[in-house]
Amino acid sequence: MNDKMIVTTALCYSNGPFHLGHLVEQIQADIWVRFQRQQGKDCIFLSGEDAHGTAIMLAAEKADLTPEAYLNNILSDRLKDLDGFNISYDTYHSTESIENKNICYNIYDRIKSHIVEKEIDQLYDTEKNMFLPDRFVKGTCPKCGAENQYGDNCEQCGAFYEPTELIDAVSVLSNTKPVIKTSTHFFFELKKQQNHITQWLKGAEIQQQAINKLMEWLKEPLQDWDISRDAPYYGFKIPGHDDKYFYVWLDAPIGYMAALKAFCDKNPNYDFESLWWDKKAPIYHFIGKDILYFHAIFWPAVLHAAKLPTPTGIFTHGFLTINKVKMSKSRGTFITAKSYLEKYPSDALRYYFASKLTNTIQDIDIDWDDFVSKINSDLVGKIVNIGSRCAKIIEKNFQYNIITEITCDEAKTLLNTIVQKGDEIKLAFQERQFSNAIKLISKCADLCNQYIDEKQPWKMVKDDSTINEAHICVSSAFHSFSQLMSYLSPVTPEMASKYAEFINSDLKWNMPYLKQLPGSFPRLFERLEANKFN
Ligand code: 2FM
Ligand code: ZN
Repeated sequence: MNDKMIVTTALCYSNGPFHLGHLVEQIQADIWVRFQRQQGKDCIFLSGEDAHGTAIMLAAEKADLTPEAYLNNILSDRLKDLDGFNISYDTYHSTESIENKNICYNIYDRIKSHIVEKEIDQLYDTEKNMFLPDRFVKGTCPKCGAENQYGDNCEQCGAFYEPTELIDAVSVLSNTKPVIKTSTHFFFELKKQQNHITQWLKGAEIQQQAINKLMEWLKEPLQDWDISRDAPYYGFKIPGHDDKYFYVWLDAPIGYMAALKAFCDKNPNYDFESLWWDKKAPIYHFIGKDILYFHAIFWPAVLHAAKLPTPTGIFTHGFLTINKVKMSKSRGTFITAKSYLEKYPSDALRYYFASKLTNTIQDIDIDWDDFVSKINSDLVGKIVNIGSRCAKIIEKNFQYNIITEITCDEAKTLLNTIVQKGDEIKLAFQERQFSNAIKLISKCADLCNQYIDEKQPWKMVKDDSTINEAHICVSSAFHSFSQLMSYLSPVTPEMASKYAEFINSDLKWNMPYLKQLPGSFPRLFERLEANKFN
């Protein structure tokens, strides 16, 4: 195989089912990965569960399950969702794994000289006997006086503060007043890495909008990063301490390495140390804009301190909104992957997301009426329809035979244009400008439909003097269709595999001309029924 590359999506917290917000990233990355593979790249696609932290520990407790049983339930649902959306991970791993533990301890050893101990004050729930993470305490904003605000920042005035600054703080867990308690924490000396991160940013593939945000953060001296949490906690114990754990955000990105290690252990032609630790393959992380700081500051800083290779690129996307508002359980706009799949096919959402995705960090929006009409008019009415209407004529009038020597100038021009557009489409996919790729593909379909409509082969077949011209027309339109199926295949894998099965061949980027239809043309895509989310 050709060049190897490693692509990851963020390891989502294992504390609920996948929703459409999670799917934006997985679909975006999967389209890119499928495109890379179609171009002959050996793309190792990794992700997994982010299994640690207080929220998961408490969710398991609430469900009256051990964390392991709780995680297993979530994982089995999520694997069904990934399958349903055809997300083609090579390995879908977990941070709660032996690989992650070993690599985490190894990295901790390597960064020990960058760790300092400090005493810190935190809010402590004396009923639950635990320190309270920021999101488990509420109170009055010390800046503007707004009530019922979380321990880290105020949704009213936007101020950031320490939980200990909250006025009349209350534990969300027990509704009691927390006390302030001191404990020793381990801090990673982030500011020592400040220059290195600035340097790394200059060479990494990161969008300009993300760089601007990062440069704003890097203008100020970076604060040392607290990588420890007190017991009770669900995670890896810090070696030599019985009541201290690594903060979930230390071992989460290490989970990418753990997934690669697990993949390599199962595939003997791949070697973990050489791939990541000797940087034999570029590493690309797909992430949401809310976790940019973790991936573009903490993560490269830890890797650099550990004397390990840093990521090649970080591809950040925006949030998903539905009818321009954030998904919300109370508004009934919270849609799980499973509930979507009960209503519509996965390729439809993949196509719709692709038609909206650019390589910026702008949010993308679903409007369900627009979704239905885009799929029905563009994908079904415009693209798939070329194949089915030409195939019908070829079947009925030409005994399934297709002309491969195209001599007519108009047809040659059409075919050449569609192949030439392939370079622009390729570039658009490569640069993650998927909405452009879809526009270009759709433009090719327009040209093809115009050509068919002008020629009117359904009329020409009726006359012996024009029947040959009709045959050339439907043959060249069918070759064009085949090419469009191939361009679309990273976006709509289910439809692509139906078509590949029909022609009994993989969809190569440059499709050879089919000499004959192998049988009756399959129904590649059904029209969607009207908005089922109303
Ligand atoms: O935001 C989240 O859901 C985090 N669990 C993402 C972690 S990404 C990586 F570091 F594992
Ligand atoms: Zn406030």
